[in-house]
Amino acid sequence: MGNSMGLDKVPPMPGKEGEAACLRQKLEQTQADLKDYQARILQQEKLAAIGQLAAGVAHEINNPVGFITSNLHSLRKYLDKLTEYIGVQDELIGHYDNPAAQERLRAAKKALKIDFVLEDIEHLLGESIDGAQRVNRIVQGLKSFSRVSDNEVKAIDLEQCLENTLNLVWNEIKFKAKMVRDYQPLPLVPCCEQQMAQVFMNLLVNAAQAIEQQGCITLSTRYEHGWVSVAISDTGGGIAPEHLDRLFEPFFTTKEVGQGTGLGLAIVHDIIQKHGGDIKVGSTPGRGTCFTLRLPATTEGEGAHG
Ligand SMILES: Nc1ncnc2c1ncn2[C@@H]1O[C@H](COP(=O)(O)OP(=O)(O)OP(=O)(O)O)[C@@H](O)[C@H]1O
Ligand SMILES: [Mg+2]
Repeated sequence: MGNSMGLDKVPPMPGKEGEAACLRQKLEQTQADLKDYQARILQQEKLAAIGQLAAGVAHEINNPVGFITSNLHSLRKYLDKLTEYIGVQDELIGHYDNPAAQERLRAAKKALKIDFVLEDIEHLLGESIDGAQRVNRIVQGLKSFSRVSDNEVKAIDLEQCLENTLNLVWNEIKFKAKMVRDYQPLPLVPCCEQQMAQVFMNLLVNAAQAIEQQGCITLSTRYEHGWVSVAISDTGGGIAPEHLDRLFEPFFTTKEVGQGTGLGLAIVHDIIQKHGGDIKVGSTPGRGTCFTLRLPATTEGEGAHG
């Protein structure tokens, strides 16, 4: 078709035609680069839009979850009171002079399974309080992830940021991997929290996706000589050596069409670089992979913008 007649097959041409071919090649390359760049910006904008939506949703959920939790705690206290009251009643039934009334009370208690009901209410309340706490953690995670348009650099607790993000992607991980935490105390790190959440999210999801059936994801944090490092390692399928050099290229993916865009690690790399840090990968095919990122723990050097 038209102008795509295989430039690489055309031998170098002398004079103006050769120059034109060369220019055309350059133009095509520039167009391809521009396309890559556009796609990356689009992806970042998409993330920003999702983040804003998430912020709104988190905000709206926060309120009802707050009063649901508080009400559940009140209900538990009331249940204790009712249980105590029924206990006193039980004790006193024997003192009634009216055997027919005694019998009616005992029969009603049995028919209505009051003992079981009291026990089960306690169980149901416990479960509901757990559930509400889980929703609360997810909301906190969404809130930290959603500060998308805000590139503000603040002193961040990276361990907290990692845990918040883990809560967000927990659904993708819980059936596949056991989590192991190997945390050491970290100083606060000047960075953009939302961008770091994005980094952790991509690394965690990749780790889970690399595990075919059941495995383990280990999170470790270290602080040495002014640098904070966070490592996320998995016992997944590993990376073929010939792919190692290409991982951070935009659109490099080994996943099926529709499964991966190949932008995750490109974004990760970009963010870490903007924070003045670096990221390394080690992998053994069949055994697993470890991504280790380092960030300077002081405000000196490059800041995170953009
Ligand atoms: N933990 C890992 N274990 C094995 N392979 C990995 C791991 N992380 C990344 N990879 C490889 O690197 C490729 C690029 O990862 P990247 O996150 O950039 O894109 P993706 O996961 O394919 O798609 P996207 O993240 O855009 O949905 C993956 O397709 C996969 O082959
Ligand atoms: Mg990915």
